[in-house]
Amino acid sequence: MSGSVEPQSESALKWWQKTIAYEIYVKSYKDSDGDGTGDLNGITSELDHLKELGVGAVWLTPCYASPQADNGYDIADYYSIDPAYGTMEDMDTLIAEAKARDIRIVMDLVFNHTSNENEWFIESRQSKDNDKSDWYIWADPKEDGSAPTNWRSIFGGSAWEFDEGRGQYYLHTFLPEQPDLNWANPEVRKAVTDVAGFWVDKGVGGFRMDAITYIKKPEIFADGEPDAGDGMVGIHSMTANTDGILDYLHEFKASVQEGTDIFTVGEANGVSAADLDKWVGDDGVFDMVFEFGLVNIDLPDENNWCETRDWSLQEFRSFFKDSLAAADGAGGWFPVFLENHDQPRSIDHYLPGNGDRTARGKALATLLLTMRGTPFIMQGEELGYVNVDWPSIDDYNDISTKNHYEFALGEGYSEEEAMDGVHHFSRDSARTPVQWDASENAGFTTGKPWLPVYPDYTVYNRESEKADPDSVLNFYLTLSKLRRALPELTDGDYEEIMPDNQNIVAYTRSKGNAKVTVLINFTDGEAEYDPGYVKDGKCIMSTCSGEKKGILRPYEAVIYEEQP
Ligand code: GLC
Ligand code: MG
Repeated sequence: MSGSVEPQSESALKWWQKTIAYEIYVKSYKDSDGDGTGDLNGITSELDHLKELGVGAVWLTPCYASPQADNGYDIADYYSIDPAYGTMEDMDTLIAEAKARDIRIVMDLVFNHTSNENEWFIESRQSKDNDKSDWYIWADPKEDGSAPTNWRSIFGGSAWEFDEGRGQYYLHTFLPEQPDLNWANPEVRKAVTDVAGFWVDKGVGGFRMDAITYIKKPEIFADGEPDAGDGMVGIHSMTANTDGILDYLHEFKASVQEGTDIFTVGEANGVSAADLDKWVGDDGVFDMVFEFGLVNIDLPDENNWCETRDWSLQEFRSFFKDSLAAADGAGGWFPVFLENHDQPRSIDHYLPGNGDRTARGKALATLLLTMRGTPFIMQGEELGYVNVDWPSIDDYNDISTKNHYEFALGEGYSEEEAMDGVHHFSRDSARTPVQWDASENAGFTTGKPWLPVYPDYTVYNRESEKADPDSVLNFYLTLSKLRRALPELTDGDYEEIMPDNQNIVAYTRSKGNAKVTVLINFTDGEAEYDPGYVKDGKCIMSTCSGEKKGILRPYEAVIYEEQP
């Protein structure tokens, strides 16, 4: 070894820190065979668009064999592809075709629960003493025969389901069709590790770990203080982030990830900036976690879609500031996301109102693609999609939407109030088919789409937006190029500026001598700021023409580059 110091590589970041991630809701992306359901071959046929967008990691929602009680989050067999989506050969082709374009496929690992049609569960429910009898969470009824505790599942109703055969209840954090695995059993931990290993061997680039904060249950199952008129208590407050959960996840990380270049991102409801050092980074269990602080900013109680709260831009900015500082402090990394398949469309979520939707979409795009961290774009977000507002609950598909609606009526809200909640929060808004062109069914399928195409497809579709220089899509393409051209946008430090401004989100990203200042007006009126912040800056991007230092037009976003 020579004593010389190795030249610093251009960036010490890993591949997944430098790229843009994109979530595909497989059922709704592109249908290749006319059955009305998106599929793997549909995705393979459209990879070039993702390449153009600068995407290097594609997270697929679960496409394993599943009875689809929760649209695939109920997995019957982790080792096979659902026939509606294709075959394992199609998956191999997708992984290879993506790799040829420098795109890695990211699988969704749902390990808190399986489907009730999974063979593991079918065996477990046979008796109290079969080989897998302890693979799920079984408990005896209370003396009066009722459920072991008063816990309410996340989708509504008791979290316990009685099984006649065993004469016992099993626990389901989500639907009765989604029985929870018993991670306390080492055989279960081995089984899920094997599943992950199988997919690592297939060449995937990472894993999104579904509902991961629920895997460890408390030692003793006890009733909680009821939090609603149904006499139940939300299971989240009783089982999320139970002590010892990190031991399981450290074990998982050591056996699955070591020696690979994959990344992991945990869906971590209940984890906040203050806990991040235990969850991400060198001493953590994942590379990144999706926190819920931002998406729940207007929702004080996840059970109840009818009660929302007003939030301030201060809180919105604090989320980024605190989480970025905590993730950095832990040596971890931050996943930037405004939408996913469980959330409202961000335009309606964070910038509600009647303002120009294209302007609102661009404002949020600016935040998403210039914040420090790996941006996760939800399919359709780059096309500026908004929430659906179907008139009747029967028009909706999502089981959680239906259950939230029932819960609201049970709590005494009116039909209209319950539907308002649905219009605002339904998960179906993020799940409507991708609108490719203005032809029938928006070019998504030649058959009948499994979920209706949103009627605005004649205007807001990929083809027409591609042709329109002022579209949200072209803005994403421009910003993505800018992000790749300016290292400070990937690697640079983040610093919030104008912390007292009530209307503007503003920050700098800097690396060495390079520095950009990002300013986004979150209101539908003009917003003023001290032009001194950008006095030496040259405008390199603006969503309105003729930008003027010191003032932003409604929803205007601007990027200034500091001149050395
Ligand atoms: C996660 C998923 C959601 C699913 C639930 C149960 O929250 O993102 O879509 O319904 O877990 O698996
Ligand atoms: Mg199909």
